Amino acid sequence: MPEKIIIFDTTLRDGEQAPGASLTSQQKLEIAFQLEKLGVDVIEAGFPIASPDDSRAVSMVAKNIKNSVICGLARCLKQDIDAAHAALKNAKHPRIHLFLATSKIHLQYKFKKAEDEILEIAKYATKMARKLCADIEFSPEDATRSERDFLFRVIEAVINEGARTINIPDTTGYSYPQEAFSLITDIRNNVPNIHKAVIATHCHDDLGMAVANSLSAVLAGARQVHCTINGIGERAGNAALEEIVMAIKTRKDAFNGLFTQINTKELFRTSRLVSNLTDFIVPWNKAIVGKNAFRHESGIHQDAVLKKRITYEIMDPKDVGIAESQLVLGKHSGRHAFKDRLKTLGFHLSDEQLEKAFIRFKEVADKKKDIFDDDLRTIVQDEISVIKPIWQLSSFEVNSGTKVKPQATVCLLKKGKDCCGTSSGDGPVDACFKAIDKVTAYKARLEDFRLEAVTSGKDALGQVSLKLRIKDKIIGGRGSSTDIIEAAIRAYLDAVNKLESK
Ligand code: KIV
Ligand code: ZN
Repeated sequence: MPEKIIIFDTTLRDGEQAPGASLTSQQKLEIAFQLEKLGVDVIEAGFPIASPDDSRAVSMVAKNIKNSVICGLARCLKQDIDAAHAALKNAKHPRIHLFLATSKIHLQYKFKKAEDEILEIAKYATKMARKLCADIEFSPEDATRSERDFLFRVIEAVINEGARTINIPDTTGYSYPQEAFSLITDIRNNVPNIHKAVIATHCHDDLGMAVANSLSAVLAGARQVHCTINGIGERAGNAALEEIVMAIKTRKDAFNGLFTQINTKELFRTSRLVSNLTDFIVPWNKAIVGKNAFRHESGIHQDAVLKKRITYEIMDPKDVGIAESQLVLGKHSGRHAFKDRLKTLGFHLSDEQLEKAFIRFKEVADKKKDIFDDDLRTIVQDEISVIKPIWQLSSFEVNSGTKVKPQATVCLLKKGKDCCGTSSGDGPVDACFKAIDKVTAYKARLEDFRLEAVTSGKDALGQVSLKLRIKDKIIGGRGSSTDIIEAAIRAYLDAVNKLESK
């Protein structure tokens, strides 16, 4: 019988650990709704002990998501387990995910503990967590660099204490496909009680092999895959969910008919939502969800695809939810049509958010004749990115040209009061950012700045994504407008507001 591969999505936990990818609890909930719609089996919603924000996000997701298992991460410590248990209180299907490193390097330098001590901690924590929650997953962190015999002992012991999923993390992205295969095979052959647990794989992309390693682990018998949307995650990221799912679907022949329950038509939408909310742009050539993934440039290819699509396409773009951006609304469209379209696009907005988004839509529609689905997504995601912005753009004025030193005045609203700052700069955008710094009194350093057109046409919405370093933190911001300087100001304020709302 073909077996199902359980998709464990960790976008909200490991994905959010990507430097500069921080999400508010409201944004996490928005992503969780979409993950549920996508059909993921398990959502790792956060690491509750890490911060009150993380704990709140896990609670919100646990309360609102009913179909997927909701998982909270915990170290093998009582306070972590209690925090995870508390945050998962309202989950219909809660899971506690314990982790403890088993490699010599971690034992020696991180813990300064002997193997037997680690074994005892793992057993004790699993037993404690199992009393609070029926569904326990255990990860021997840095498993791929651990001594095999010790790894087998730990796995056997935690299964005896009640763990029912054993995850094998390639924490540092050190492994390669043949090794990933042999490690899972060895675990299956050497851990006597392994049949009582599902084996999972969790691969990082430091050497660019996270997806290949995950798929090798599946071929060796892993039946759960940890992954993230767009492959975001700590350092170089995690295995990309969309790539794992489409590889298993497209190459059923190679994967012995294994399947996932992912509704692949939701992949593109989920990718864009995560990209917009985390301010991580999807590269044009990204497999499955990149702009170019289904575009054909050469005449020979275009001609052949028109004759028969499968000449140069191994997947149907419709299967991943890529359709031409549709012309949907214009400046005469009303609230009803706006609300309706957002619902179709999968947004869950409160009345207050809807009203804010509608006002913004009208402003944009006044300047841009045709509003496409991608424009709508951008407008709405701008509005829901920060719930109550502390600083809002009131007005700005820029003087720039080839023969003048660029100068900008930016006025911001804070608690109903207008505060203005004026500055010169290397260019109009730099002058605006410096003017904002004068008002907010933050010393922000611009680490990254990208400008993209959301749709085509000279009146297209420009979208700016940037990363600021403020007080040792990297914060992302995103803003859009038909005026690219305004888009840059909005993105800058988005980042500053995120920092303040934390
Ligand atoms: O990479 C890793 O080892 C992890 C664990 C917490 C599973 O993310
Ligand atoms: Zn990880």
